[in-house]
Amino acid sequence: MWGSSRWLALRRGFLIQSDFRGRREPPPDYLVSTNVDAILETQDLRRRFGALVAVDGVSMQVGAGALHSIIGPNGAGKTTLFNLISGTLRPTSGRVFYRGEDITHLPMHRTIHRGIGRSFQITNIFPSLSVLENVRLACQAMGHDSFRMLRSHAKFGPYMTRAYEVLDIVGLGERALQPAGLLPHGDQRKLELGMILAPNPDVLMLDEPTAGMAAEQVPELMLLIQSIRSDGGKTIVLVEHNMNVVMNVSDRITVMHQGQVIAEGDPGEISSNPTVQSAYLGDLYSDREGPS
Ligand SMILES: Nc1ncnc2c1ncn2[C@@H]1O[C@H](COP(=O)(O)OP(=O)(O)O)[C@@H](O)[C@H]1O
Ligand SMILES: [Mg+2]
Repeated sequence: MWGSSRWLALRRGFLIQSDFRGRREPPPDYLVSTNVDAILETQDLRRRFGALVAVDGVSMQVGAGALHSIIGPNGAGKTTLFNLISGTLRPTSGRVFYRGEDITHLPMHRTIHRGIGRSFQITNIFPSLSVLENVRLACQAMGHDSFRMLRSHAKFGPYMTRAYEVLDIVGLGERALQPAGLLPHGDQRKLELGMILAPNPDVLMLDEPTAGMAAEQVPELMLLIQSIRSDGGKTIVLVEHNMNVVMNVSDRITVMHQGQVIAEGDPGEISSNPTVQSAYLGDLYSDREGPS
């Protein structure tokens, strides 16, 4: 006769071995984080799409409080790396650690709860909702209320307070009641930043936040990103194709090429690195608006 503790063990075993889609976890390989100062770390991270290895053995560390950029030509694997870290995509092999904890197989809604916020390369707002509602819904994602759009106004109180706070930070307070879809493109990117910021993450992963913006709007957005980092003590991981921006704002830069890291260092080291110059920077500096 099976006792209740055995049933419990079986059920717990099922829960431990199953991920959020009910698939089995691969067996643990007992890797641990190697650097306690790193807020994020990947170890030999790999993702195949058929014959293509989009991310090919990437090991990198992001220091807490850093502004760490990831650059590389179009198709280098930057967005895939973001997807693997944030839990949007599962790696073929390798590990991801957040504050020393293995988060490799956590889905995105759980990495958000841990404190990792990420943006997508394309604008990702609800155009028919107001600016305020967009941010309020993003706040709710943290409060387990993501799908309860029709709850009474009173229940939204804390989310509303946070939403107005966030709109102030990103400078959209005066546009709170406008439909998000009618905002100028530059303000839509600020709104997206606000939506990532809403649940107050420790790490913001920004995938080409200046994409599609008029050149004269770029410095304002970058100043905003820098102030979010310094005022809020956040860590920023930035994918950015504008080399002037990258060289100006980054503490550290990782260069990817064909899924692999080909260089890492501070802006001075990267701009004088001969491998990077021949593989990438030379091309970029020759036409300024390089590939994404
Ligand atoms: N879901 C997918 N299925 C198949 N191939 C993909 C997928 N996502 C990305 N890729 C491929 O992986 C490579 C890296 O893409 P990506 O990570 O988007 O590069 P980057 O962001 O550096 O431009 C590209 O060759 C791309 O076509
Ligand atoms: Mg990309």
